Amino acid sequence: MQSVIEQLVAIVGEHRVKIDVDSQQVFGKDQTRVFTPNPMAVVFPDNTEEVQKIVQLANQQRIAIVPSGGRTGLSGGAVAMKGEIVLSLEKMNRVLDYLPEDRVIQVQAGMVTEQLQTIAEEKGGFYPVDFGSSGSSQIGGNIATNAGGIKVIRYGMTRNWVLGLTVVTGSGEVLHINNGMMKNATGYALQHLFIGSEGTLGVITEAHMKLERQPQNLQVLVLGVPNFEAVMPVMREFRAQIDLTAFEFFDANAMQKVVDCGHVSAPFTTQAPFYVLIEFESPHEETLNQAMQVFEACMEKGWVLDGVLSQSLEQLKNLWRLREDITESLSGYTTNKNDISVLIGHVPAFINDIEQFFAQHYAAFETCWFGHIGDGNLHLNVVKPQDMPIPEFYELCKSINPKIFELVAKYGGSISAEHGVGLTKKPYLAYSRSPVEVDYMRGIKQLFDPHGIMNPGKIFDIA
Ligand code: MLT
Ligand code: ZN
Repeated sequence: MQSVIEQLVAIVGEHRVKIDVDSQQVFGKDQTRVFTPNPMAVVFPDNTEEVQKIVQLANQQRIAIVPSGGRTGLSGGAVAMKGEIVLSLEKMNRVLDYLPEDRVIQVQAGMVTEQLQTIAEEKGGFYPVDFGSSGSSQIGGNIATNAGGIKVIRYGMTRNWVLGLTVVTGSGEVLHINNGMMKNATGYALQHLFIGSEGTLGVITEAHMKLERQPQNLQVLVLGVPNFEAVMPVMREFRAQIDLTAFEFFDANAMQKVVDCGHVSAPFTTQAPFYVLIEFESPHEETLNQAMQVFEACMEKGWVLDGVLSQSLEQLKNLWRLREDITESLSGYTTNKNDISVLIGHVPAFINDIEQFFAQHYAAFETCWFGHIGDGNLHLNVVKPQDMPIPEFYELCKSINPKIFELVAKYGGSISAEHGVGLTKKPYLAYSRSPVEVDYMRGIKQLFDPHGIMNPGKIFDIA
């Protein structure tokens, strides 16, 4: 009888199976720090056929598989703690096909997001889903979590850009779904079950991704606003006149964390408690003039304290860093991260409730607020005080989190807008999904993954 490791080596070759502690630690986790990785092995297949053989082996031996992309997740979805096989897609990063008439590119799932963005640009196109971790996140992981990011207001989530998938189901079958087509009315769109499934139904190995035309002459405005209440009217005024590609917000604490890292400076000297970052295409002078008029009108109404418009590509990039570098700048701190959303129309009332709640429960804590206000998605980060032991901080947050989620549920919102449920949000799923819905999800999992080997324990428990 060959051992599992020997059989893995027989499938992918000796150099593509790692069992050393370093590899287990690196590949057995994502960006969450609260879990201790302990996988059996890390395996690096090269193609769908190898992935299929690994899944078939795992089925025979009833060993769990944790699919692993860029490991930039924030909810423990790619954590392997119980002797699983970590299946890294890292080596599967090639372009498989390009269909210029369809404006579709087919890539392996391990391609890094930024690489897809660059290739799209070389082909005269544009892949618009973008976020701070684009330099290391992978397309397969983005699809498995239906990643959102900073351009959702204009381009939507990853789901909008997937026109086909190759998957190896949990039972070891290969499905080629939708082949890159725009139109296909032949029954259930199975690709959408895999998008956002967090590796619990199978392994995404290849994807047909739609491309967009390149944006023209992007401009970025960063505005200082006096309070949260001013953020929504500012957004409304700008959106009424201009098609925005982003409307992001962050508070002074979040910006200070970025500035402290020393790569970029504050946008202007006027101090403001909150900032918004507005991006838009400006193909004609007229759009820029319109933006300036809206800016002035907002100043007159007292909704804006100060502002800066990018004057060069370099300045545009630096202004974006004020928002995009927040997560990285917080990585040196222990934080309790929230990734919640409500309908945009509910945002003002929800924010009012949340502000009161935070004043009551987190008054003594440093908080960093930022997010995609244009999508109703807030990231509320509570920073652990230096002198508080980590376990005490987590226990406290554990007791406070349900109360935040009660407010989310009050507005019919989501406990995870874009980071996914994974392990960290699993205890709170019932605040956003009904028991019947979760039972249907279990039924779907049972169908694709009858032996429960695919990323077990993530999103929900089987029984
Ligand atoms: C972001 O918007 O920067 C990401 O979702 C990451 C985060 O929330 O930390
Ligand atoms: Zn985000």
